[in-house]
Amino acid sequence: MILDKDYAIGQIDPRIYGSFIEHLGRAVYGGIYEPDHPTADENGFRTDVIDLVKKLGVPVVRYPGGNFVSGFNWEDSIGPRDQRPKRLDLAWSTTETNEVGLHEFCSWAKKADSQVMYAVNLGTRGADEARQVVEYANHKGGSYWSDLRIKNGAKDPLDIRLWCLGNEMDGPWQIGHKTAYEYGRIANEAAKVMKWVDPTIECVACGSAAHDMPTYGAWEYEMLNECYDNVDYVSLHRYYGNPTNDTPGFLARNMDLDAFIKEVISICDCVRGRKHAKKQLNLSFDEWNVWYHSNQQDQEVWKADKWGRALPLLEDVYNFEDALLCGSMLITFLRNADRVKVACLAQLVNVIAPIMTRNGGGAWAQTIYWPLMHASKYGRGTALRPIVNSPVYDCRDYEKVPYIEATATMDDAGNVTIFAVNRDSEDDIEFSCDLRAFGELKTGEHILLHHDDVKAVNTESDPDNVKPVSGKGGKLDGGMFTVVLPKLSWNVIRLVK
Ligand code: AHR
Repeated sequence: MILDKDYAIGQIDPRIYGSFIEHLGRAVYGGIYEPDHPTADENGFRTDVIDLVKKLGVPVVRYPGGNFVSGFNWEDSIGPRDQRPKRLDLAWSTTETNEVGLHEFCSWAKKADSQVMYAVNLGTRGADEARQVVEYANHKGGSYWSDLRIKNGAKDPLDIRLWCLGNEMDGPWQIGHKTAYEYGRIANEAAKVMKWVDPTIECVACGSAAHDMPTYGAWEYEMLNECYDNVDYVSLHRYYGNPTNDTPGFLARNMDLDAFIKEVISICDCVRGRKHAKKQLNLSFDEWNVWYHSNQQDQEVWKADKWGRALPLLEDVYNFEDALLCGSMLITFLRNADRVKVACLAQLVNVIAPIMTRNGGGAWAQTIYWPLMHASKYGRGTALRPIVNSPVYDCRDYEKVPYIEATATMDDAGNVTIFAVNRDSEDDIEFSCDLRAFGELKTGEHILLHHDDVKAVNTESDPDNVKPVSGKGGKLDGGMFTVVLPKLSWNVIRLVK
């Protein structure tokens, strides 16, 4: 790897280390909220979970969905709790009690040192409800909705800065699924009036639900033709799985992620050119993760209890190879930090999540917790533009996959952090980095995540089975740094002033 402090991709927006809480499964009820739990605070929030979220470091949390939001009436989630309606949630075949709503979630986010990214319903509803919730949340007072917020206990505005204009509206599974034109029109009108209420907010338009959607590309182009001027970001969603147990292929999946990002940037810039627009759109990768372990289990849960409350849905138990792919996905976001300004690991607690809980029991970190925690802690400041030369391999879906996936960041004090995954399952690799352009640096920590078994998991009774340890560290000699990256490992290497 060759680095130079003047070769920068751009400033890292800390919101790329965001996450997501949907009213789905045990994310809210039994996840962040469990009033009878021994660690619950006065509002019923589990403080053991808050501690893990704070340690993870998620500057923004998307809420309340996801598919859930396309059938959700935000007004159900405010006012006295005992008067809030119970509703059927058609997205996840469960019953939503609305015990946790807008005010409760905002106060939880504050305790978790996070900002709320709020999604409005553009499935069954439209611009009118969207402008009303902005008025409720952000207007200081003296109007119907803002005064209702004050009456409901929040004198100060909830101050929500980032708004999603619906969710995955290109997906036929979505309540209120739309064509690109229909969605582009409603997104434009919603964003326009939301910004008339509060011109300081930012809005995210729904891109495709996945890279392989049949309408992908045309969707982005057509809907942006309608709403480009009123939106700030386009969303991307992507989940990967390893159902055929092809570890080398699975670990290469972030190559697809990189292509997806670059393609969506091209489409945004194409619409910009066509419109002669001054404004550049950036990307909000607001759902990303590994998701496949729990698919079969969910069918059993629904068979046993359709319309139940807080069903144990999407409870993927993550293994070590999942953590390696998540690490490479984070590296990909950093390598596109000039355009990817928001990214949300989907989700945060229990539902395809880095944090798991047992009702009435413990809370623990899954394997995928660690790369996000490291990136959020050390991947701040400037994303550097590295030149990386690595030996490569071929697998079923990809050619020339580099064994080493790596990038680097530099914080405001001039400390450099290298993030590197060794995808090689056979050999350790000697990695060298030219740091001569940085002047005086000293070797700092080498954090290593490795397990001999790629399928190793963490559980409540064995929460530290896959956890970071100190690596052997490297040598810095005349600005040339060398270190051995063990086979199949995630590495965080600090070079400090
Ligand atoms: O994160 C789980 C679901 O995945 C979300 O509700 C939806 O947006 C996506 O399809």
